[in-house]
Amino acid sequence: MPLPAKYGGKPVRTKPFPTVNDISGRAIGDAEIKEVLEVLKSGKLNRVYGDKVRSFEAKFAEFMGVKHAIASTSGTAAIHIALGAIGVSPGHDVITAPITDMGTIIPILFQGAIPLFADVTEDTFNIDPRYVEKRITNKTHAIVPVHLFGMPVDMDPIMEIAEKYGLYVIEDCAQAYLAEYKGKVVGTIGHMGCFSLQQSKHITAGDGGVTITNDDELARRAALFADKGWDRKRGREYVMLGLNYRMTELQGAVALAQLPKLKWIVEKRRKLAERLTEQIEELEGLNPLPRIRGVKPSYWQYPIRVELDRFKVTLDEFAEALKAEGIPCGAGYIGEPLYLKKPLKERKTFMKTSFPLANNPFYGRNVEYYEGLCPTAERVLRQLVVIPWNEFYTKDDVDDIAEALRKIVNYYTSHR
Ligand SMILES: Cc1ncc(COP(=O)(O)O)c(C=O)c1O
Repeated sequence: MPLPAKYGGKPVRTKPFPTVNDISGRAIGDAEIKEVLEVLKSGKLNRVYGDKVRSFEAKFAEFMGVKHAIASTSGTAAIHIALGAIGVSPGHDVITAPITDMGTIIPILFQGAIPLFADVTEDTFNIDPRYVEKRITNKTHAIVPVHLFGMPVDMDPIMEIAEKYGLYVIEDCAQAYLAEYKGKVVGTIGHMGCFSLQQSKHITAGDGGVTITNDDELARRAALFADKGWDRKRGREYVMLGLNYRMTELQGAVALAQLPKLKWIVEKRRKLAERLTEQIEELEGLNPLPRIRGVKPSYWQYPIRVELDRFKVTLDEFAEALKAEGIPCGAGYIGEPLYLKKPLKERKTFMKTSFPLANNPFYGRNVEYYEGLCPTAERVLRQLVVIPWNEFYTKDDVDDIAEALRKIVNYYTSHR
């Protein structure tokens, strides 16, 4: 049996994994340069004067098969815009996922509302509809499902619950461009869908976001929210409270050039991921994302839940062994569920007020977040190894990852 590199053996891989443009690994090239130069030469860097952002919005909406797309400065902004559009306010709570980026939670708090966390399923790490229904209160205004790592949430029961209780559903698709759930693209199932164009996402403009919807009124409010509540058709009228979340023409230019690549990027990532899944499904103790009929993940990254008890190693040891084989990976994703991070657990929000989690007359009670709130989320985070995923990987790259995993699993299985 080959000795793992961590214990003095020869690594499976010494060549670095492929990236394009040095460290970025993103498909940025002539098309982006051309679009950006056009903006610079025009001197119109703000979306109010140029046409790149408007054009990106129209094309993104068409691409997703929806009526409206509102571009913004980040995925966080895209979610904030959606929450503003549906009127999330102090006194409301919003049910969401414990395993996600802080960008899902921040907008809820900034609207003065309470994030409530539904536990996840062990196999997808996404919110479990059964726990969503248990969390509903008479103050619940919306559900924000997060399609983590590009794996679609089980949306049918989420939509049924939303209908039953009269709630909005805002899909966080930051990691899930073109992921499919029963023939629908995620982001088009709920009332609004939100995307991120941050550097690591399937397509990028460095930073950026998009909010989509088929609802004319929500789209109108979303556009206002992203532009200080300014109704530009009526002079200097500010018709609602909003922020300046306007995407710049420079971002719009890059996003416009990225969009035609998206389908290829997702298809390529999916195909490569399927190749790895087939190989590691045979390894006992490793759990890739499940294959579910009618569900097509889009693989932002490639998560594996490792049954550490079986191998008698810690998560860090396992991840270090994989890294020693030349395979990049991270241990534990965000470490602990978001409700255990300082702004929530210690109520570090608006300085001494701790609003909205405490001192909130609209909500009427203080909210406590504690260890054990979502036990499955806490457990799976202690078992997660996440492998960065990229459309420029080759089949050989994927096979190296599989070989390294096989080597480590075999070694730990026989040495436990
Ligand atoms: C699931 C999820 N939601 C929201 C965000 C926030 O996006 P951004 O970083 O563009 O603000 C991210 C990105 O990191 C994310 O992964």
